[in-house]
Amino acid sequence: MTSEKDMEYSFPRYLLAKQTVDDRALNRHVIDALKANLSKPPIRIIEVGAGMGNMLARLLSWNIIAHADYVHVDSMAENIEYAAEWIPKWATEAGMRAERVEKNLIRVFDQRRDVRIRLERADVFDFIQSQPAPADLLIAHAFLDLLPMPESISKLLSLTKDLAWLTINFDGVTTFEPTIAPALDERIERLYHETMDTRTTGGDSRAGRHLFSHLESAGAKILAAGASDWVVHSVDGKYPGDEAYFLHFILHFFEESLTGNKDLDVKAFAAWLSKRRAQIERGELVYIAHQMDFLAKV
Ligand SMILES: C[S@@+](CC[C@H](N)C(=O)[O-])C[C@H]1O[C@@H](n2cnc3c(N)ncnc32)[C@H](O)[C@@H]1O
Repeated sequence: MTSEKDMEYSFPRYLLAKQTVDDRALNRHVIDALKANLSKPPIRIIEVGAGMGNMLARLLSWNIIAHADYVHVDSMAENIEYAAEWIPKWATEAGMRAERVEKNLIRVFDQRRDVRIRLERADVFDFIQSQPAPADLLIAHAFLDLLPMPESISKLLSLTKDLAWLTINFDGVTTFEPTIAPALDERIERLYHETMDTRTTGGDSRAGRHLFSHLESAGAKILAAGASDWVVHSVDGKYPGDEAYFLHFILHFFEESLTGNKDLDVKAFAAWLSKRRAQIERGELVYIAHQMDFLAKV
């Protein structure tokens, strides 16, 4: 592993590293409900805050979708560009064929599957304003806890005429083990959650539990809900896949959010970060984040 000084923080690499963590975390009861309620193919899917295409790849490799029109919306140009390269590469490695129909329209297919993916670089609210035809399924994965709530929910639900699968919604608990100093650990975790609640662009450190009432108030019926906690630990001292990088990126989020926080001693925080980073290098760090998944019907 590269030393902290040389570490390059690449958001697409973080999203790639997050795949295996999300694969374990996604709530299987909610997925079963999704499979049971999906309308007959071909279906139209809109995914917002879609990053570089993780969820599309997962839905295909888990045989949840086979024939679909997929609109992939993300505001970051870097993610859309990465998705345009990564999705065809992933499909080819998975034994499918990939075709670029237009600059931002990709088709991935084989004998049993055929999905057309339109990549849209847009802010989600501008995209909603453009009044796209509502989908059969709206997906928001690791995204809703970044938005202003509750006002975003009814806008988002206008993107679907049937189902919304809303996954990896952070819900108020972050845990790092082993403990370094109980009071400092607790303070850092609490202040980090506060930064989520006070971001100017919106966000809620208890987004998961609050979705029960937000969805109901927006007139949606919750068909299934359950925990989708991230649990990251090593096996025989090694983290699976690129999860050591994922953990470094999580600490990077902490560093970015809390540097300069007036309630945190600068030296104590720097020492805490360097001890946590050393724990990753030794394969000792365990990271748990409590999150929730929902399947709702509009
Ligand atoms: C935590 S990432 C999750 C990405 C992807 N769903 C995944 O899990 O791999 C959140 C994503 O939302 C995108 N995003 C943030 N604000 C957005 C907005 N207002 N409109 C559209 N996308 C946004 C970011 O660019 C980022 O790709």
